[in-house]
Order: sequence, then structure tokens, then C-alpha cells
Amino acid sequence: MGKCLFVTGTGTDVGKTYVTGLIVKRFCDAGVSAGYYKAAISGADTDAAGCLLPGDAAYVASVAGLHASMEELVSFVYPDAVSPHLAAKLNHVPLDREKVQRDFSRARDSHEYLTVEGSGGIVCPLRWDETEHIGLDDLVQWMGIPVLVVADSGLGTINATVLTVEHLRHRHIPIRGIIFNRFHEGDVMEQDNLFMVEEMTGVPVVATVREGARTLDMEIEKLSALYG
Ligand SMILES: Nc1ncnc2c1ncn2[C@@H]1O[C@H](COP(=O)(O)OP(=O)(O)OP(=O)(O)O)[C@@H](O)[C@H]1O
Ligand SMILES: [Mg+2]
Repeated sequence: MGKCLFVTGTGTDVGKTYVTGLIVKRFCDAGVSAGYYKAAISGADTDAAGCLLPGDAAYVASVAGLHASMEELVSFVYPDAVSPHLAAKLNHVPLDREKVQRDFSRARDSHEYLTVEGSGGIVCPLRWDETEHIGLDDLVQWMGIPVLVVADSGLGTINATVLTVEHLRHRHIPIRGIIFNRFHEGDVMEQDNLFMVEEMTGVPVVATVREGARTLDMEIEKLSALYG
């Protein structure tokens, strides 16, 4: 059974997939067996034949050079660019807990280090119908794995990151670190954001990622120590 890390973020589009691609690539470049898994993708494009394209998984697979099939990397793919719970409703395909647990376990057993990407931020409904209420935070709790928070480095990140950490703590989910994305070395505000987030949460910023970065500047021992 491999070690796992759940990558959440302070919101949608903050760079979870971008950073996850660099993380998985870091392992693969070091010759370590690494995998990717995401329970639900909404807003997926379709190819010429009308088949849904799981964008995040395809991106990470291409950056890191993974050879897994898309079915192994993602459990539920919806075309609508809305929250997964609404996409599930519109498509009459509710997220199924057993399928997610089965697919996650298979992915975990196939790799030494499995990186799981969340949808949106940590408060993200995945299924909300008369039968079940499932949020992303429930999913992390079922999996029983620690979390890494991806945050934008710019204005507004103190509020978004501190609230994300507070919610994770409220749900008793262990937090291993924060990565500041789109970080500009020497920028006084971004440097202060990093300092203030560490001060106010007590969680370390374990790495920063520059705009257009092609590699993750982090020692493999430090990266693998985040997994549990
Ligand atoms: N450091 C970066 N340098 C260049 N482009 C970036 C960087 N971080 C993110 N991006 C770009 O910003 C966009 C949003 O990033 P990304 O898809 O990783 O966000 P996300 O948090 O995974 O979103 P979602 O909630 O949809 O999964 C993408 O086009 C991505 O390529
Ligand atoms: Mg993503």
C-alpha cells in the first residue's frame, strides 16, 4: 500500500493541477513510482467523437509521463462547468462512495506515492441529493490521508488560506503544508503573505512555485515526508 497526499486549494483555478503535475513529475524524474487520482472532474471538454476528456488527469499524466488509463485516474467526469454536485444532478450520475473508495484503493495499491487532487476548494459539495450529502472534506476523511494546501501568492490569500486551514482543523484533517503558487521572488507583498500565513496558521509553506515553472524546487526526501 502506497503513501498518499491529498492536494486541496484555497479555491478553484489556484493551480492544484499545475502544482500536482510538478509534484508527480518530481517523483517520476527521481525514479520513484508515483500516481495520480481525482474523484470528480466537472467542466470537462469533449473530443471530436463527443467523448469526455478528463482535463486535469490528462494534464498531470502528460507532464509527469504517467501511462495509466483515464478510467484509473478519475472516477466521475461531467461536462458542465459547475460544482460537481450540480453537474452530477444535471447528468443524473451521482458520485458513488463505493466506486470512489474502490478506485482510490486500487490507485493507492499501484504506486509508492499517490497524489490525490480535490475539486474546487475544501468546501465543495460532490453529491447533494435526497439520498446522500457528500462534500470534498468527507472524501478526505474517508481516505484518511493528510492534506497539502495550494494557495495563490497574491492579494487575498491570507484570508483564503487561513479559512481553509481552520476548516480542515475543524474536520480533524491533518495538514502537512502549504505551497504558494505563482510566487514572485522579491515581491514584498507576496513575501509578507507567506510570512503571515505561516504565523497565523502555524503550518509551514513547504515550497513556492513560480509562474511557468517546469520543475518543483524541493528535495525528494522533504516531498515524500509529506505523504502518509
Ligand atoms: N505557476 C503557474 N504558472 C503558469 N500557469 C499556471 C500556474 N499555476 C496555474 N497555472 C494555470 O492556471 C490555470 C488554472 O490552474 P489549475 O488548472 O492548475 O487550477 P486548479 O486549482 O487545478 O483548478 P480546478 O479547481 O479546476 O481543478 C491553468 O491554465 C494552469 O495551467
Ligand atoms: Mg484542477
